[in-house]
Amino acid sequence: MSENNELILAIETSCDETAVAIVKGGTEILSNVVASQIESHKRFGGVVPEVASRHHVEQITIVLEEALEQAGVTIEEITAVAVTEGPGLVGALLIGVNAAKALAFAHNLPLVPVHHIAGHIYANRLVKEMEFPLLSLVVSGGHTELIYMKEHGSYEVIGETRDDAAGEAYDKVARTINLPYPGGPHIDRLAEVGEATIDLPRAWLEPDSYDFSFSGLKSAVINTVHNASQRGQEIRPEDLAASFQASVIEVLVEKTARAAKEYGVKQVLLAGGVAANKGLRKALEERFKDANCELVIPPLFLCTDNAAMIAAAGYIEYKKGKRAELTLNGVPGLDIEA
Ligand code: KG4
Ligand code: ZN
Repeated sequence: MSENNELILAIETSCDETAVAIVKGGTEILSNVVASQIESHKRFGGVVPEVASRHHVEQITIVLEEALEQAGVTIEEITAVAVTEGPGLVGALLIGVNAAKALAFAHNLPLVPVHHIAGHIYANRLVKEMEFPLLSLVVSGGHTELIYMKEHGSYEVIGETRDDAAGEAYDKVARTINLPYPGGPHIDRLAEVGEATIDLPRAWLEPDSYDFSFSGLKSAVINTVHNASQRGQEIRPEDLAASFQASVIEVLVEKTARAAKEYGVKQVLLAGGVAANKGLRKALEERFKDANCELVIPPLFLCTDNAAMIAAAGYIEYKKGKRAELTLNGVPGLDIEA
C-alpha cells in the first residue's frame, strides 16, 4: 500500500460520545460516526460515569460496524488502530481501549495510543496542513490550555486553567439559569441576542501569566443571579449569557494573541468543544485579521468529541513509530507533555 493510502481506524470513548472513524493518509475522512449519549445524561445535569460506560458498551460494536460500512472498507484493509488512551473517565476510556486491543490482536494490527487533547488539536489538520511553530488554544469541557508545538507530536503547555475549564464554566453557568446540559451551546445562542450589560470580572492573573481561571467568574454570575432574585429584580438571561461570554472570550483571545506574538508562531489553532462557540470564533477572527500568523478554526463537526481527530493525531504517531502493547490501559490523567 502506498504511503498516502494508509487507513487509520480510530476509536474515541473518553467521555459521553462513542465514536469510530476511518481516515485515509492522515487527512481524508472516509467515515466519522459519533453516537452521542447527551439525552441520557441531560436529566442528571451532567455526565454520569457509570451511565457513560454502559452506553459505550452497548454502542461500540454498532458504531464500529457503521464506520467500516460508511467508509466502504473491510477490517483487512486497515493499516493501524488508534485509540484515545486518556485523559477522560476511566470506565469510559476502557471500553474504547479494549475494543481497540481486541481489533489489533485479532487482525494483527499495530495499536497506536492517542492523547485526547492531541486529537482535538489535530482536528485542524483534517482541514489545513499544520505549519510550525504553532500555538493551539484548547478549550473543552475538561481542559483550557495554551499549547506550543515546535513540530508534530511535540507539546509544551505554556498556560492552563488553575480551576474550572472554560466548558465547565459554561455548563455550570447554564445550570444556574436552568438551561439543559450541555449548557455551552445554549449560552452561545442566548449571548448572540443579548447585551453584555452586566459587569463581571476578568481573571488576568499575573501580568505575564498565560494561565486561566474561571471559577471567580462563575461565582460572580451565581451571586448576580441570587442577589437579583433576593431583591425581586429580573435579569434577562440573554444579557447574563452575553456578559458571561464576553468575559470568557476577552481573556481567551487576549492571552492567545499575546502568546502568539511572544512565541512568534506561524499558526494559531483553535481546538476543543468550546471552539464551536460562535462568539469566540468571531472574536478570534477579528483579532487575527491583520496578524502575521494564520488562524485555523475547525468546522463545527470536528470541534466536539469525535474519532476523526483521534485518527488524525494517531496517523502522526503511527508514522513516528509509536506503538502500544496489548497491556494498554485507559489513563484518566494522561499528561500531554510526557
Ligand atoms: O471537547 P468536548 O466535546 O468534550 C471534552 O473533551 O470535554 O467539549 C465539551 C464542552 C462542553 O462543556 C460544552 O458545553 C462545550 O464544550 N461547548 C460549547 C459550545 N459547544 C460545546 N461551549 C460554548 N459554546 C458552544 N457553542
Ligand atoms: Zn474532548
